[in-house]
Amino acid sequence: MKSLIIANWKMNPVTFKEAKKLFEETKKALDKTKQVSVVIAPPAIFIRELKTSYKGKRIQFAVQNAYFEAKGSHTGEISFGQSVDAGATYAIIGHAERRAMGETNEDVNKKVVASLTLKLLPILCIGEHTRDGNGGHYDFIREQLQIAFREVPTSKLSKIIIAYEPVWAIGGTTAMNPRDMHEMAIFIRKTIVDLYGQSGMSIKILYGGSVDETNAPEMLREGDVDGLLVGRVSTDAVQFAQLISSVETV
Ligand code: PGA
Repeated sequence: MKSLIIANWKMNPVTFKEAKKLFEETKKALDKTKQVSVVIAPPAIFIRELKTSYKGKRIQFAVQNAYFEAKGSHTGEISFGQSVDAGATYAIIGHAERRAMGETNEDVNKKVVASLTLKLLPILCIGEHTRDGNGGHYDFIREQLQIAFREVPTSKLSKIIIAYEPVWAIGGTTAMNPRDMHEMAIFIRKTIVDLYGQSGMSIKILYGGSVDETNAPEMLREGDVDGLLVGRVSTDAVQFAQLISSVETV
């Protein structure tokens, strides 16, 4: 199976020089594989230079966030159009760390729509904060999805990737159990099918939250997912190389 691995560098590393080194090491690790595609989401300010000096095709770039307006007086923001211009193909939207800073489901929806308009492929992040045994997290996820997909036509469905990241597993020590992910993947697909009919069945789903080289293969084999969204481990060149090679044969 060909897996998609998103490397979310977050606000790391500290300098461009280090970013370049990490990029080169990631590239080297990827060159030893055939079945893995990597999307790197570096701090946006690093994208253009990394992209310009990269001659290969196996690595693509994502922004970690962008603002839904096309231009104007929005100090500190970058637009989806500027992201494309800098070399991004994907946009992470609605990451839990952005939502924690106040991003709402409605904001996420505007960003999904803006991103699609500019032909930037959204990696839509969803995930509950807690689970209580009564299944309330399913309602939470359904609502996140229903709002995020507002005004998204069926024809754009294949452009969107859903990254399910339970907030309680992000930055933690243990990833979710792959069997639970499998259940969640079925629920996510059902929710999209309720919105779009059978075309919803082929929606791509990723898992994120404490992914490392030890749990990645099992998650890809048993979690019913097309790939993984990796935070911390993606900025450790040695560990990330191990992760990439661990998923090569799943
Ligand atoms: P983590 O982060 O891999 O460090 O848990 C995942 C994420 O926030 O996307």
